Amino acid sequence: MLNSSSHTPIDYVIVDHISQSFPSSEGELKILKNISFHIGESEVVAIIGPSGSGKTTLLNLIAGIDTPTSGSITIWGTEITRLSDDGRSDFRANHLGFVFQDFLLLDHLTVAENVMLPIEMHGLEARFSLEEILERVGLTSKTNSKINILSRGERQRVAIARAFIGKIPFLLADEPTGNLDTKNSQKIMDMLLNFAEELGVTVLLVTHDPEIYRRANRVIDLATFA
Ligand SMILES: Nc1ncnc2c1ncn2[C@@H]1O[C@H](COP(=O)(O)OP(=O)(O)OP(=O)(O)O)[C@@H](O)[C@H]1O
Ligand SMILES: [Mg+2]
Repeated sequence: MLNSSSHTPIDYVIVDHISQSFPSSEGELKILKNISFHIGESEVVAIIGPSGSGKTTLLNLIAGIDTPTSGSITIWGTEITRLSDDGRSDFRANHLGFVFQDFLLLDHLTVAENVMLPIEMHGLEARFSLEEILERVGLTSKTNSKINILSRGERQRVAIARAFIGKIPFLLADEPTGNLDTKNSQKIMDMLLNFAEELGVTVLLVTHDPEIYRRANRVIDLATFA
């Protein structure tokens, strides 16, 4: 397993001629067609494109949750598209952080338990103590609260704390502010981008929101690959 703290000059994400199709009642549904791009270390890249253009599909491929019909994805020198299912899960647990629109938090666990999952379940090396990270996201008073009593903005702050508590080099975010009002949305983005900048974490972010994608170093429009 690659150690995320020992980066080499090959460190980046390479998406190389990716296509993805799904079976449908009208035959094969081609979602992604020959998508290629690179992401440099510590870059913040936004993926945009109309609803249904395959943004989430692409993120699932890069996360190794799904495998493409063709093409390859290399992350920090590991070609994840050649790994087994278990290999990809392992890689994901050790290298990637996630902040998604529907949070992906475990409702029956507390804030502390959710935040500690990457460290306790996957043995990821910690970058912050639990107390430190909860203080940073302003959730100290909610440490022992169950997720289901939290507001949407608070849940997204839990997701951010969980994403950044371990030493991950790469964060994937899918519409991280999609369900939040403008004020909360801005607060969450500030928090996410500040952590990424401070820690040198590379970010791939899916968004519809021009206020958000104009803050990225680079924007990739899936419509331009059609
Ligand atoms: N596992 C699957 N099987 C069949 N079709 C799928 C599957 N996953 C996604 N699709 C289809 O692929 C298309 C792209 O979906 P995707 O969720 O990637 O779009 P998106 O760009 O993220 O859209 P949105 O902006 O609405 O979130 C959709 O038409 C969807 O129904
Ligand atoms: Mg989507």
